[in-house]
Amino acid sequence: MTIPFLSLKEQTAALKPEVMKALEAVVDSQGFANGPPVAQFEKELASFLGCKEVVCVNSGTTSLHGALICAGVGAGDDVLTVSHTWISTVWAISYANARPVFVDLDPATCGMDPRDLEKKLTPKTKAILPVHLYGVPVDLDPILDFAKKKGLPVIEDCAQSIGATYKGKQTGSFGLVNATSFYPGKNLGAWGEGGACMTDDAEVAARLRRLRDHAQQGRHHHTELGFNWRMDGFQGAVLSVKLKHLQAWNDRRRAIAAKYLAGMKGLPGVRVLEAQEGSSPIWHIYPLFHEKRDAFRAELEKHGVQSGVHYPKPVHLQPAYAHLGLGEGALPVSEQLARTEISLPMFPELTDAQADAVVEAVRAVAKTLA
Ligand SMILES: Cc1ncc(COP(=O)(O)O)c(C=O)c1O
Repeated sequence: MTIPFLSLKEQTAALKPEVMKALEAVVDSQGFANGPPVAQFEKELASFLGCKEVVCVNSGTTSLHGALICAGVGAGDDVLTVSHTWISTVWAISYANARPVFVDLDPATCGMDPRDLEKKLTPKTKAILPVHLYGVPVDLDPILDFAKKKGLPVIEDCAQSIGATYKGKQTGSFGLVNATSFYPGKNLGAWGEGGACMTDDAEVAARLRRLRDHAQQGRHHHTELGFNWRMDGFQGAVLSVKLKHLQAWNDRRRAIAAKYLAGMKGLPGVRVLEAQEGSSPIWHIYPLFHEKRDAFRAELEKHGVQSGVHYPKPVHLQPAYAHLGLGEGALPVSEQLARTEISLPMFPELTDAQADAVVEAVRAVAKTLA
């Protein structure tokens, strides 16, 4: 039997009765667009994360765009970010008419390497946008220190890290305004599209609430260029149901990751990530790194283990960003991670027996390819 890289089937079936009831309530109240179910979920998520305001929008990409606008990023500005990420992180910078400037990664976290910040700073730098990739918190303290010294706002991309903590605080509660995604495959996934911004700044939150609804202040009074970024009421209702389970789901991911680490650490040619001191990842993705990535994946498949790759080509090497003029070798760590990463099966409903079988397969394949 094949072990899938990701399955939403079991969780969806288990939640169906409760979610269907919640969806029916939305139908009965006609709160279809940005209605009371969304406002209710915003309060619940803010309380979970320990931040003052959550503003829901219609995707994670949108939330990043909104966060950048509220951080004051605009035409002619540079934003320090990373290249080994889902491309939306970088799209959002382009949507804000700014230029992405890529900082290389720390292999220990797969996140922004604070040691590369000074080198990449330009006179036009306006903000710093790190990504908690794979649900592993970036080493934020040195980034926040650097940002403070330079007077720059930080925006955390938490699309893969809801519930992960850094030094006892939730990711998404450090930057001026932070962003996340509720894409169905995420650890807190909607039954459709969705995203949110998190902030402690009341003015930023108020601006985001206007921006997402055509920049209206009151009715038919538009204060700036606005958007239709409203979240479906249905998604607010689904997410309220799912949020109640998030802690348990994240803990289950941590337990699977602990099994993987114990069974795979030190295997020849294999590198796996470990939580850094003071950080508690939620392992949206559990990555393994091997120089013979494609052969490794093919062998895993023969053992009945599916895998993924996140992400095979860094953004600076994508045709869409060729105009930046960055070739191979510009970001050595990012490029190496992109060349060697394998995403192992990871979702809360993965059974212990399946996780053990993944470990056995990885051990066998590592030996074969050594
Ligand atoms: C790191 C990262 N940033 C941004 C996004 C964009 O989110 P969405 O797909 O909801 O637009 C995603 C998810 O796809 C992501 O993984």
